[in-house]
Amino acid sequence: MRIAVLASGGGSILQALLDDGIPVTLVVTDRACGASDIAGSAAVDSVCVERTTYDNSFDRVAYSRRLVEVLDEAGVELVVMAGFGTILAQPVFDAYPDAVVNTHPALLPSFPGWHGVRDALAHGVKVTGCTVHVATLEVDAGPILAQEAIAVLPDDTEATLHERIKVVERRIFAQTIRDIIERGSVL
Ligand code: GRF
Repeated sequence: MRIAVLASGGGSILQALLDDGIPVTLVVTDRACGASDIAGSAAVDSVCVERTTYDNSFDRVAYSRRLVEVLDEAGVELVVMAGFGTILAQPVFDAYPDAVVNTHPALLPSFPGWHGVRDALAHGVKVTGCTVHVATLEVDAGPILAQEAIAVLPDDTEATLHERIKVVERRIFAQTIRDIIERGSVL
């Protein structure tokens, strides 16, 4: 199964997938970020499909089409979102039906969106966690594949809590992707 990992951040989840032996064909970033350095160090091809605007003029559909071109060219069969900061539009889901997976740092359906850790802390929950799910057009709403709970500690900050969540994400995301490879399909 040819796998692309999409990332926008430090790329520690990408690193965990590589360390786990997940065969990554291509890393795609949407901005300059640590994930492309990680790809470079692991000698995995990487490409930046740069997102040049972050305001209302951003053409999400055109961006998604460009992304599909890049993925198709590499013969990608499974798209793995590991902290990708751009919400994908219909062309990606048309090209990869039930073949896009994501990891989210909260127990969905609670606290979807980019600030799942911050929002859970602000709400005062005592338990949060992480969720691996099939990505769909609706953000953080697709079928859940794996989930694990993590206690919120009294002195947690967004950073300390997120780091504890990521320790678990690295493990359950790698396990889920291994299962997908073994099954030959996401669902
Ligand atoms: C993860 O917590 C992921 O769920 C979230 O962004 C984080 C990515 O971390 N969407 P890293 O860049 O791989 O360290």
